[in-house]
Amino acid sequence: MVATQRQSGYLCENISRAPSGELLLAGQSVASLAERYGTPLYLYDENRIRERCRTYLGALADGFGVGRARALYASKAASFRRLYEIMHEEGMGIDVVSVGEIYTAHLAGYPLSLAYFHSNNKTDSDIEYAIDMGVGTFVVDNEEELLAINTISAEKGTRARVLLRLTPGIDPHTYAAVATGKVDSKFGSAIETGQAESITRLALTLDAVELRGFHCHVGSQVFDSDVYIRAARVMLDFVAYMKSAAGFVTHELDIGGGYGVRYVESDPEIDIRANILEVAAFMQDYAGRLGITLPEIAMEPGRSIVADAGMTVYTVGTVKRIPGYKSYVSVDGGMTDNPRFALYGSRYTLLPVAAPLGEEVMTCSVVGRCCESGDIIQEQVQMPVDIGRGALIATLTTGAYNYSMASNYNRLPRAAVVMLRDGESYLAVRRETVEDITRLDV
Ligand code: LLP
Repeated sequence: MVATQRQSGYLCENISRAPSGELLLAGQSVASLAERYGTPLYLYDENRIRERCRTYLGALADGFGVGRARALYASKAASFRRLYEIMHEEGMGIDVVSVGEIYTAHLAGYPLSLAYFHSNNKTDSDIEYAIDMGVGTFVVDNEEELLAINTISAEKGTRARVLLRLTPGIDPHTYAAVATGKVDSKFGSAIETGQAESITRLALTLDAVELRGFHCHVGSQVFDSDVYIRAARVMLDFVAYMKSAAGFVTHELDIGGGYGVRYVESDPEIDIRANILEVAAFMQDYAGRLGITLPEIAMEPGRSIVADAGMTVYTVGTVKRIPGYKSYVSVDGGMTDNPRFALYGSRYTLLPVAAPLGEEVMTCSVVGRCCESGDIIQEQVQMPVDIGRGALIATLTTGAYNYSMASNYNRLPRAAVVMLRDGESYLAVRRETVEDITRLDV
């Protein structure tokens, strides 16, 4: 894996400090944005999102050839209308996993023929909905689902384009909750057990599905150098095998999610372009050695498209110092807007907004306001020793899997989402109100 080291203390070049010391995102004052829109607040640097889309699109086109590869934004990372508009404008495909994501993309005017519908358990009504909405491709997890799609497509007089999700048996060395490529995964049909071959043969017998090819996704937040190359090798072996064993020519091969991102200074910075070019060179060479034409390639980055465009801003409430023990800084958000520490122990970088850390610092846990001890944003955080009520704290790299995993636990309203673009800001998702929270109660 090609990695470069950054010197800056702020993880991504869109984060800086004004001469006064105050924190800036995309050149805009975080404190002013907090004042204008309130906290807790999700901020997104739109230009950074667009830049990351272009990095993937450019590298895929250069590596595999124009029109020979596509980038699909894995919208589980962050899903709201404005993002689908941006993806459409940038020429990105999308990966959707639920009727909610499909509908949101539809509302954004996103052409659903470019959408790929994933998930390991699509219900009959999900399948009907996706067909009715014109979703372009189903990524099929297992035989039961394949048969259900065939039946429903036949009833509707259509033919569904499908990719089959396979498990290549690769350990991506990431945290357990996001590792999906091993044989004993809930996702996909394993190559090793023969189930991949059997679902492929089954698909070829069905009239109302058009088998386009295969998909795999080995895990998320992957840094390990050769994970994609190892997965690609197994998948191409399978493509060659199905050609010789069943005469099936694979048109599309989707190699799954994108690269890992930096949450803390010690995380490596991945050169996405260089890595994609490396994978592309390998795949072209290996396909040649196998005597097959390289199928059209797809990649589905989510995290690396939006993560470091995002930042969450909180207002400090209570600061509790327990002599001889530890200190807690409570903020007005928590696991409801960022459950990733509670779920995975994820590391984050937190900064005081007003000014950089000086000499006088304290180590504390930054915690939320849910009635639960596990409601922690991060432990072992350094904050100014005199931090107190009303101060602002920012968590960096929260653009992925934060808003999309937010909840109303304790009936807390979800935070607003604000986009920053060319020195201006605008609301993309308004702050929830107590009326929003109670509107489904009958
Ligand atoms: N494609 C498939 C089939 C996936 O399952 C995923 C992520 C992606 C693409 C996008 O992967 P990425 O580029 O974002 O690494 N909630 C967890 C992450 C779950 C990822 C699930 N699948 C977290 O907060 O870390």
